[in-house]
Amino acid sequence: MKFEIPATQNPIDQTTVIGQPRDRIDGPLKVSGTAPYAYERHDAAPNQAYGYVLGAAIAKGRILSIDLKEARAAPGVLAIVTASDAGKLGKGKRNTATLLGGPEIEHYHQAVALVVAETFEQARAAASLVRVDYAPSQGAFDLAAEKERAVKPPSEESTPTDTQVGDFTGAFAAAPVSLDQTYTTPDESHAMMEPHATLAAWEGDKLTVWTSNQMVDWAATDLAQTLGIPRANLRVVSPFIGGGFGGKLFLRADVLLAALGARAAERPVKVTLHRPLMMNNTTHRPATIQRIRIGATKDGTITAIGHESWSGDLPGGGPEVAVQQTRLLYAGANRMTAMRLAVLDLPEGNAMRAPGEAPGLMALEMAMDEMAEKLGMDPIAFRVLNDTQVDPEKPHRPFSMRRLNECFRIGAERFGWSRRSQRPAQARDGRWLVGIGVASAFRNNLVTKSAARVGLDRQGVVTVETDMTDIGTGSYTIIAQTAAEMLGVDLDKVIVRLGDSNFPVSSGSGGQWGANSSTAGVYAACVKLRETVAQTLGINSSEAVFTDGEVRAGNRSVPLARAAEAGPLVGEDAIEFGDLDETHQQSTFGAHFVEVGVDAATAETRIRRMLAVCAAGRILNPKTARSQVIGAMTMGAGAALMEELAVDTRRGFFVNHDLAGYEVPVHADIPHQEVIFLDETDPMSSPMKAKGVGELGICGVGAAVANAIYNATGVRVRNYPITLDKLLERMPDAA
Ligand code: MOS
Repeated sequence: MKFEIPATQNPIDQTTVIGQPRDRIDGPLKVSGTAPYAYERHDAAPNQAYGYVLGAAIAKGRILSIDLKEARAAPGVLAIVTASDAGKLGKGKRNTATLLGGPEIEHYHQAVALVVAETFEQARAAASLVRVDYAPSQGAFDLAAEKERAVKPPSEESTPTDTQVGDFTGAFAAAPVSLDQTYTTPDESHAMMEPHATLAAWEGDKLTVWTSNQMVDWAATDLAQTLGIPRANLRVVSPFIGGGFGGKLFLRADVLLAALGARAAERPVKVTLHRPLMMNNTTHRPATIQRIRIGATKDGTITAIGHESWSGDLPGGGPEVAVQQTRLLYAGANRMTAMRLAVLDLPEGNAMRAPGEAPGLMALEMAMDEMAEKLGMDPIAFRVLNDTQVDPEKPHRPFSMRRLNECFRIGAERFGWSRRSQRPAQARDGRWLVGIGVASAFRNNLVTKSAARVGLDRQGVVTVETDMTDIGTGSYTIIAQTAAEMLGVDLDKVIVRLGDSNFPVSSGSGGQWGANSSTAGVYAACVKLRETVAQTLGINSSEAVFTDGEVRAGNRSVPLARAAEAGPLVGEDAIEFGDLDETHQQSTFGAHFVEVGVDAATAETRIRRMLAVCAAGRILNPKTARSQVIGAMTMGAGAALMEELAVDTRRGFFVNHDLAGYEVPVHADIPHQEVIFLDETDPMSSPMKAKGVGELGICGVGAAVANAIYNATGVRVRNYPITLDKLLERMPDAA
């Protein structure tokens, strides 16, 4: 089904099941520990052996030799795989570094060997006996030091490297009020709960992998490409995922090595990237240096806005697209954005929750706060004044829907914004300096083709199959709600099967496109099934109403199940989106409010309250959507206050490669969160009229925290994370 804008009235608009705050249908499996995760697939294949990954001990250079003699003789060892005996391997088009390194080493902890043994402990012990002789060479590891050598990376059509509108330089120079500041964000790790893990089993030349991956079709395509086997010989199964955040968008070493290990050992092999490997073996969010310039008239109208960002990646990698929201968020006649990319021999940089916007808004929205102060304006009033209802770079493209100002209005009232002192360091609660801050949330709404198959059996049970994934987001539930609404059955009559490459190819989970795109694919399949049902029952499908387990037309009413009496019925289709982008800009919006207390003596920051007001089209399930947003707000708080991969700039690796050294927020760090969704439907997004919220929720949070800290203390910290050492000496009470 080709989606034609605008979406018309359709059965989803009944919102008897869709739009309702239903409990997760996979909840009982999750809380009883019976949802099978990849590493727990004990019954999926017999006689499983364990693989242990050995990571490179240098960041760049060559392996001169590997001595496997001792390891091979160790108890329980079944096989050892290295690049020199793995046969010829290709590379998936979404991988920058090679997943099995050697002799060239491209980054620290790049996998160089897999040891397969009867038990995990035997594999680990034997791996410690592998002797690798390295010839290290000099790499580049420090973004700040490489900044001057950064170059303009190749532009992509969807994301140009540089943009220019009007005369930025002239307008900025002429602006009566202006700001020119530089902000930095650190490297960050996805740090999801479930490590990357795979069980691989060969049957002849056919391979099945049970893994943990957000994008089943990408994984299957890239694994087939890497192994050099036909895609048809490969099955990827990933029905339950313990968090991904972008770290599981791509094929990673666990999948490839499990497949190679299983081939070498002639047994099913399971492999996990144990926690200490994850920060350096997989991908991370790259650090940025961002320069922002804003010029305005005295009344606060932006006349010039410029955003430049520098980041680094391995050769062949891409930039962190931290300027992309600045192209769309505020009005202003004269504009420029630019991205520059340095070669860094650190592990591969890639997408992490709201790639681009998350770090980009940490800078832009702090700059907006600073600019409002220079103008003597309320930071909300400054943003509202510079709202735009069209793409400011391409004014012929209106936003399909943009209610950012309303988010601020509702949020300000709810949060008690009027009680904020515009002068910083004025409010005190015992030992705490108290401040509140605000920031815009902005994230584009991407749509992508998504297919599903929906079946009906004689019991009236509806089964949905699609390779869509649920990374903790609620996909199972919103897909079931979609099918229930379309076919007029209760939620408990719907079975959802996800995450299997044998099913129709979906959008997968990424870029917050999954909820809208995958349910729209299920919608399309349901439309097909409704036609088949109507035909079977001899009902005119344009008249048929599906409700209460019945199909009704005129004064006829037939149980839905009767349509499948002679045998199950199936509808299969995909939703396809044309060039929606040409006519409309689709984005999601929000306003984040944060109250912090900063200890006057120690400069320790505690978040006291958080509020997000989001405008993101139809909210398919307010309960699962709220969970997405509070999780994202929590992650944003981490980015503001704690998360940082510490780079060893001499040896080229992330030092804090575990959850003790890489700090993320815990419950005690996040006392109170509230989420409000504007009641809206966007007919330009899909027949579902929905958008995504999973990434919107993190966008802007970091800056709202930073702005609250400034409001509390009068200290501006422009280098994230805002740890107490950066505040301490500049605190109001500091001697
Ligand atoms: Mo996302 S960073 O596309 O999972």
